[in-house]
Amino acid sequence: MEIIEFENKKKYTEKHKRKYTKFADFYDKLIYKAPAYRRWLEKTLAYITGKRILEVAFGTGYLMSRYANRYEVFGLDNNEAMRDITANRLKALGLSAELAIGDVEQIPYQNGFFDCVLCTFGFSNFPDGPAALKEMLRVIKPGGRLIMLDMNYPKKFHVVANFLILFYKSECIIRDISGIFDSFKLTYSDMEIGGFGTVHLYIVDK
Ligand SMILES: C[S@@+](CC[C@H](N)C(=O)[O-])C[C@H]1O[C@@H](n2cnc3c(N)ncnc32)[C@H](O)[C@@H]1O
Repeated sequence: MEIIEFENKKKYTEKHKRKYTKFADFYDKLIYKAPAYRRWLEKTLAYITGKRILEVAFGTGYLMSRYANRYEVFGLDNNEAMRDITANRLKALGLSAELAIGDVEQIPYQNGFFDCVLCTFGFSNFPDGPAALKEMLRVIKPGGRLIMLDMNYPKKFHVVANFLILFYKSECIIRDISGIFDSFKLTYSDMEIGGFGTVHLYIVDK
């Protein structure tokens, strides 16, 4: 399994930020209208614990709109266009959340501030997985939880999965997420929930 990290993180981040700025509307309309995608996101809902939740890389906010009425919700994303769509979506639904613009490697909250951090299809967009993970863990209180949904290789070989991984790799970084969790000595579960085993739901208890 490969772990790809980019030396020039700033350049990588800026390139992807331009992409999300350009395609924010398209992303919202296309991705969030796909029933399978929505189902994958919604699988995370049952695992949210505690009261104060941070969603990192919240995108255009479909998932946030599904739980914001039940928790004290904070969001962090590095893209203003994505943030604006989320803010409008929440407002239209009469929901609220504190949405910040910033980088996952510098989360603007103190240690242990959150009961739970949620990150869906964000990790594969971050240029430095271990640095992003370390920072997300920092803001989770002891006994709290990290819920991560992302793409990865299936545990068992599947020919369709291999094609999907090749496709994902054209846009994202497919890394050995369990290997990174192991190197942090974390207790976690890894469930394959779709995409021929390529969509994984990770629950990490701190
Ligand atoms: C593939 S989208 C996922 C959005 C949403 N969570 C979902 O599941 O559809 C990736 C998101 O990560 C955000 N992002 C990328 N790099 C980031 C970084 N370094 N820090 C914070 N957010 C980042 C992007 O702006 C985008 O909203």
